[in-house]
Amino acid sequence: QELKFNLEQIEKGGYEHFMLKEIHEQPHAIKDTYRGRLRAKEGIIKMAGIDDNLEKFTNASRIIIVACGTSWHAGLVAEYIFENLARIPVEVEYASEFRYRNPVITNNDVVIAISQSGETADTLAAIKLAKEKGAFVFGVCNVVGSSIARETHAGAYTHAGPEIGVASTKAFTTQITVLTLIALKLGKIKGALSNSDYHYHLQELELIPEKVEKALKSDAHIKMVADIYKDAKNCLYLGRGYNFPVALEGALKLKEISYIHAEGYPAAEMKHGPIALIDDQMPVIVIAVNKGHYEKVVSNIEEIKSRSGKIIGIVTEGDTSVKKLADHVIEVPETLESLTPLLTTIPLQLLSYHIAVMLEKNVDQPRNLAKSVTVE
Ligand code: G6P
Repeated sequence: QELKFNLEQIEKGGYEHFMLKEIHEQPHAIKDTYRGRLRAKEGIIKMAGIDDNLEKFTNASRIIIVACGTSWHAGLVAEYIFENLARIPVEVEYASEFRYRNPVITNNDVVIAISQSGETADTLAAIKLAKEKGAFVFGVCNVVGSSIARETHAGAYTHAGPEIGVASTKAFTTQITVLTLIALKLGKIKGALSNSDYHYHLQELELIPEKVEKALKSDAHIKMVADIYKDAKNCLYLGRGYNFPVALEGALKLKEISYIHAEGYPAAEMKHGPIALIDDQMPVIVIAVNKGHYEKVVSNIEEIKSRSGKIIGIVTEGDTSVKKLADHVIEVPETLESLTPLLTTIPLQLLSYHIAVMLEKNVDQPRNLAKSVTVE
């Protein structure tokens, strides 16, 4: 027993929980994901699984992404990335719904299955169905040699290293990194991205690990914010565009480990329901980076403020407009809009982590949840 305890302490590498360790590993994990693949200076993205099956991707009439949980959220981010950078239509499906829906699939479709464990039963079943219907199936897995990695026609590993905490963190950001690499590569080949845009994206992607490192430096400030809101009964997470799925993921993280009810919404949908919930007891976490629909998100923040909601803004360094309205702001470094999810996710992970620790919950093994769900 004592030996097991000591081993666990060593594995946690000085962190109190695996989740915190894995949050802090993200700069390295993302670097490991693009190592050997991304050569920004030369303008090259090398990925064997794509290179060997290039025609499948360039001829694809659409991409269907199947996944569950956090991996499904990475798929939603990828929808924005693929459509914007590579101009390929994308559908993102819960694997559990896809497999029972008699979906329309043809041999012109590419199915991408995303799974950290590579063992999720619903995702595996969705892959088998897609294969039967003639689709080309590509896996994005973390665990090497896992069932999904073996069942797919080709794939790309995330190389995030073992993820022990049940609430997924580094798996999410590294999945987004792999999917971004694929989208950039296809965008270049299909001519959807100009040469200069392509090169700019490559350079900025290479800088993401050090920007994640910088985002992690807000930890003490986030802990203070967590202390203020830890007793909330409900929380709302809002974002738009690339950051709408990040809002979903932020809400999921809070639910999973602190058991506080939370919902993620596209900011503009607030007026169609969630706004009715806003009062002075409701913390609203708004991702409001200075890209995309910033002005519109700022006006959503004004609407929340006029109903006395408590606002926590996730903003770009140096922001002034949101700062004037919000109760708290947490800054992330500036980057290209398509890469912002890799940064805005970080404070949301830390916020959930600190709230769960303060509430004395079992952060690494939350009740009723499993790291990999191998049954229906
Ligand atoms: C479980 C885990 C989640 C994970 C989901 C999908 O619900 O608790 O963290 O996102 O399964 O798992 P996968 O291994 O397929 O990514």
